[in-house]
Amino acid sequence: MQDEPVTILGIESSCDETAAAVLRRDSHGKVTILSSIIASQDEEHRPFGGVVPEIAARAHMQKIDHIIDGAMTDASVEYDDLSAVAATSGPGLIGGVIAGLLSAKGLSMALGKPLIAVNHLEGHALSPRLSAPCPFPYLLLLVSGGHTQLLAVNGLGDYERLGSTIDDAAGEAFDKTARVMGLGFPGGPAVERIAKKGNDTAISLPRPLRGRKNADFSFAGLKTAVSRAYEASDKTETSKADIAASFQKAVCDVLEERTGRAMDMFLEGIDEEGLHRFVIAGGVAANQSIRETLENLCARKGFSLTAPPLKFCTDNAAMIALAGIEHYLLGNYAPLDFAARPRWPLDSKAAAANPASGFGKKGPKS
Ligand code: KG4
Ligand code: ZN
Repeated sequence: MQDEPVTILGIESSCDETAAAVLRRDSHGKVTILSSIIASQDEEHRPFGGVVPEIAARAHMQKIDHIIDGAMTDASVEYDDLSAVAATSGPGLIGGVIAGLLSAKGLSMALGKPLIAVNHLEGHALSPRLSAPCPFPYLLLLVSGGHTQLLAVNGLGDYERLGSTIDDAAGEAFDKTARVMGLGFPGGPAVERIAKKGNDTAISLPRPLRGRKNADFSFAGLKTAVSRAYEASDKTETSKADIAASFQKAVCDVLEERTGRAMDMFLEGIDEEGLHRFVIAGGVAANQSIRETLENLCARKGFSLTAPPLKFCTDNAAMIALAGIEHYLLGNYAPLDFAARPRWPLDSKAAAANPASGFGKKGPKS
């Protein structure tokens, strides 16, 4: 059956990337990325060694109109030709989410086109499908500065959270490690660079939650242990390299063990024989040692590894527009008073039954 073509503007502003993209789904169901613009805020946050929510919100407000206009111009699409406007509506830093969602609401009202409220995690869950066919089901490890989650992506709208961090994200631990040793921001690439010169068995560091039956993560204790190790060291370049290498090895070990556990959980629900799909996304997935560790794990467990191009696995608006297309086709429109959600578990059933990081006034946090 042939459908009408669908053209969606997607907007992303939940952390420190201001992004807009235009995607078109043709009448045969083929999706094309007409434009995708991402403005990073690294310069704004660098002096603080981490993302400062207030600064992020202001930067989104300043940049967003320009980025949206740029995405429309690059795509050669007129505003009137849009089918709908989709925006990340949570979870994330609330000031930033509000900035993007308000822009989307303004456009939706002015153009008389539907508003689509996208869960940022659903964008990540679908992101491998932006660059290559990636049939369902697959196991996704989302590992970034904001999230560390293992999701079974069984189909559109069918996401099962197998594990999540109970405190910090892995990327935060990389950023904090870099900050205490004065290596700069973002911390991940700096830690990876210096770790190459270090001995990864020099410092003894914890492997939090190892052996637990679920597939949850914890990085807060590791962060603290690294700070203590650095304080107790002679702070030479050699010590820094040893601490960086030992820290990176601890993260590799934790990701390997916890992901291995999630693979067992994922396979429990699957009858098919043969190779299963494992996808990594998020900025931390750029780390070579982590990739190699996960490649070896996949080989042992009978999974193929898919690592989408970095521009699609870090925060971007193309993934938000892609999720927007799916919701548009289902008629899932949001009211104009849809409230931005700082917390919005993708799998609310798992979050309610087994909250990874406790309950807030408005239900499970993640
Ligand atoms: O997905 P991402 O770009 O965005 C957000 O989380 O917003 O991830 C950024 C995170 C940062 O914490 C950064 O330090 C980390 O990914 N990262 C890395 C590497 N490159 C970026 N961590 C480890 N090794 C890397 N090479
Ligand atoms: Zn993200």
